[in-house]
Amino acid sequence: MDKFRIQGGPRLNGKVQVSGAKNAALPCLAATLLTCEPVEIAGTPRVRDIVTMEKVLQALGESCQHRAEVTRVVTGTGEAFWAPYELVRTMRASVLVLGPLVARRRRARVALPGGCAIGARPVDLHLAALERMGAELRVEHGDIVAEAPRGLHGADITFSKVTVTGTENVLMAATLARGRTVLRNCAREPEVGDLAALLVAMGAHISGAGSPTIEVEGVEGLHGASHRVIPDRIEAGTYLIAGALCGDRVTVDRCRPEHLGALLEVLEAAGASCSVGVDSIAVGRPPILRPVTIATTEFPGFATDLQAQLVALMTQAEGVSEVTEAIFENRFQHALELMRLGARIEVTGRTARICGPTSLTGATVMASDLRASAALVLAALVARGETVVDRIYHLDRGYEAMESKLGALGAAIERFNPGPYR
Ligand code: UD1
Repeated sequence: MDKFRIQGGPRLNGKVQVSGAKNAALPCLAATLLTCEPVEIAGTPRVRDIVTMEKVLQALGESCQHRAEVTRVVTGTGEAFWAPYELVRTMRASVLVLGPLVARRRRARVALPGGCAIGARPVDLHLAALERMGAELRVEHGDIVAEAPRGLHGADITFSKVTVTGTENVLMAATLARGRTVLRNCAREPEVGDLAALLVAMGAHISGAGSPTIEVEGVEGLHGASHRVIPDRIEAGTYLIAGALCGDRVTVDRCRPEHLGALLEVLEAAGASCSVGVDSIAVGRPPILRPVTIATTEFPGFATDLQAQLVALMTQAEGVSEVTEAIFENRFQHALELMRLGARIEVTGRTARICGPTSLTGATVMASDLRASAALVLAALVARGETVVDRIYHLDRGYEAMESKLGALGAAIERFNPGPYR
């Protein structure tokens, strides 16, 4: 199993280029199921979640070809409809194929995602919405079975809770439903707007994506298209936090500053002033890092996917920070591992109280989920001595070439594999 070995201490300096957004590429890949024509998606990062989604598409009869950073997806016979558990259990976002499958192939069998490291994460809202659109649903042998022999129809749907992949799943289904669909209380994350941009390029009639209410006028069929996914705001945010933690000056290049507003406000509040360009942001470690009090919320608020990394940063702030996780109920597993490095963190319910600054010391730590892994890497950059981060397969799900990107900034980081059973 691969691990990272990191020697803490070096200051980071230079430019890092952000990859395409994993969470935008995933629904865009699922959307290729809505047409029989080839779809080209540029900027798909080479990370494990994308490979998993490609395997799901292959199980559904599609083929994915790669040319440089463009993924071209070609549909086969269009008859397969089963996304098996072996794939879905490794990535919950596989459920994104449910909406497109039932909309176009009129039936779908998608393994019900089980529990996950950061919380219960049910998909009840996806299912309730598809049911309102005429899909007949049942759970059979651990799979969601959805059938709509006469096709889906439009509906007026209010999500009782904001859900990103739920909004995306139902938005895709609505593009081919008969009549008009109105989706209310939608996720406003930039990845939803990006998916809508691809769907519109494929011939869908959508208005309001990026706002709480999205309206879709169903069409008979969609055609092929080419699309470039937006830059990964979470990857960008992770490197900005690295810059605030131990950067002389780290420039995060090819990002969209308008997607990072909440993080920039928090970094400013912490004393790290950011120079914002058109598609780049530069930041360095301030002389005094100040504590912050924040709560994660849906976009445009502070992203839950940056919470763990912020906690790592706050271990170095001078005073007590409070970070509340409002989206997922069990997303502080990084706290215990950070404490192995010497951090002083107290988790009560959904709030972590971080007392800084602490002088961290290297240790062997275990990654528990994607973003928790990133937090451990960040902390290791400022820990005295050597840190080994185990189970970085979590990190490989969503960060492209993290060791090369951090290495180019001056971090002493290497990937190694001690062999089986270790
Ligand atoms: C997406 C992102 C993930 C991010 C999360 C929140 C992708 C592939 N993943 O995950 O990185 O952390 O948004 O920004 O884009 N919920 C329900 N019922 C449902 C659906 C969701 O109760 O049917 C709850 C969840 O348990 C959670 C909250 O709603 O508490 C938000 O989850 P959701 O936005 O759906 O997260 P994902 O789309 O899975």
